[in-house]
Order: sequence, then structure tokens, then C-alpha cells
Amino acid sequence: MNTAQAPSSTANLGPGFDVFGMALDACFDTVSVAQEGSSITISSDDDIPLEYTKNTAGIVIDMMRRDFKIESGVHITINKGVPAGYGMGSSAASAAAAAVAYSDLYNLNLSLDELTRYAGYGEQASAGSIHYDNVAASVSGGFVIVRPEPLRIIHLQPPENLALCVAVPDIPTPEKKTQVSRGVIPNMIPLHNVTTNVSLSSSLVAGICTGNISLIGDSIQDVIVEPVRKHMIPGLDDIRSLAVSAGAAGVTISGAGPSVIAFVDDDTADMNRVERAMQEGFGRQGIDCRTFPCSVAKGAGAVQ
Ligand code: HSE
Repeated sequence: MNTAQAPSSTANLGPGFDVFGMALDACFDTVSVAQEGSSITISSDDDIPLEYTKNTAGIVIDMMRRDFKIESGVHITINKGVPAGYGMGSSAASAAAAAVAYSDLYNLNLSLDELTRYAGYGEQASAGSIHYDNVAASVSGGFVIVRPEPLRIIHLQPPENLALCVAVPDIPTPEKKTQVSRGVIPNMIPLHNVTTNVSLSSSLVAGICTGNISLIGDSIQDVIVEPVRKHMIPGLDDIRSLAVSAGAAGVTISGAGPSVIAFVDDDTADMNRVERAMQEGFGRQGIDCRTFPCSVAKGAGAVQ
């Protein structure tokens, strides 16, 4: 049996829709695979589909099994640690852990880009369209930039003192939440908004490369996607201004939401204050939230 663990992640980081991702050590999914029988079977104590064609990890492994012409069946055991449907890369974590565990089981020696591509099939099943920002972060760790086809992932290591706080609101989310929240994004974008987001994205990458958390925080803005999604996150502007007043460098929607993520300089700001500010922000809307203060994570890996 081979087991792999993959971290939660945040996608977009403001201006980088479907391009930027960052692995977070807030929580992890664990996937074990064992050669067994002649088809794919799944067990889990979590409330997830167990039919492999509907399961993120099952879809990834099915694709790998076909491509590598592996005739033996496999039993997959999934342990979900990442909350599903809240913008913390839950399906991506299962997909990444599945790709790594199955690759290890058959010594496939896949590159990080190849693992990311396979993990992307699982994301496509849950989100309705393929995008690699969360899976790339979960597979590789650190900060990632997804380049267009042919798929290539650029990895950057964020500054050591970058800390994050994810606030996960206790609100119901639609069953196909990512599909729904992608459906509100317009197809046509005014050029001046594109220019603004390109400028912000470039500044953000410069902030990562130079270890400038204040520049990272200032660049965590989005004039394209956030404006059409923010109605799904009650109190977003208030949460942002409270968290920034409490010392956060920047605040945005985590992935497709409804979680909100704050970027914090651990050397100068007090994470407890930021955490309480985010709780207060959701609290003003009558919404409880769970908060996950965390750091940038390493990528998916084998567990002994
Ligand atoms: N980039 C994706 C989105 C992340 O915002 O829809 C969620 O899977």
C-alpha cells in the first residue's frame, strides 16, 4: 500500500484568476492506494461519492491507470482533512494526493508537471472546467504560476515570514459551488480592467521574489472576478478593512470562496489580532466562522 498526503491551497490570490496558487499547511487530505482486484474501489469515512467515476481521486487514478495500461485494480482509501466547498482546494488536495500515491505505487516517476496534469482531471470533474491553480499548488507546494498550454508550472518560494489566515464562514454553499461561482464571471472583460489585473499580478510576483510582504499585500486586489463574486461573501469589504486595521497586509477571497484569506507579515503583525478581526467581520453579518492561521506548505508527498 502507498499513502500520500496533500495540503490545502488558496487560488487566484487576488488578480491571478486560474493562474496563481499557494499551498497552505492549514489542513491535509490523505489518500492510500493498494493493488486489489480488477477495478477501482473506494472507501472513506467522509461524505464523498464512492463511485470512482464521480470521485475526484478515482477519476485521477482511472486516467493514470488507462494511460499506463495498468491492468490490476486498485482500492483507494480517502481521508478528508480539507473542508469541501469553501475555497481551500479540497478536491485539489484529494486529486494531488491520489496522483502522488498512485505514481509511487507503480514507480511511474512522474514530474511535478505531469502529476499536476493528472490531478487536474479530478478538478475538472468537480469544478466543471479544467484549471490547475489549486492542484499545482497542492502537488508542488509554495507559490505557483500556471502557464497556458503546453502546461508548465513555475514554482516560487514565498518569504519565510509570510503567514496566512483563512476564515471559513459557516454558510451553506451550492453542491457544485465552484461551477456556480465560475458561472457569474463575464466572458468579455474591459481592457482597462485587464491592464489593472496584469499590473497587480506582476507586482505580486515581484513581491514574492523580493520577499516584500507589503507589496504582496498591496497587490492582492482584483478588479475582474472579485466584483462579480463578492455578493457570495457577506461582509467581504468589512472583513477586509477590519483585518487590514488589525495588521494584515492584504485580504481577498480564497479561490472561489466563500472563505476569505488574509496575508500577514509574521515578523511585524500579530496573527491573533488578524484572526479575531476576521471573526468579528463575519460575526457582524451574524455568521460564525472557523479560522485557520497557517503557513505556506510543502507539496504532496508520501506518508510512511
Ligand atoms: N481559480 C478557481 C476559481 C479556483 O476561482 O474558480 C477555484 O477552484
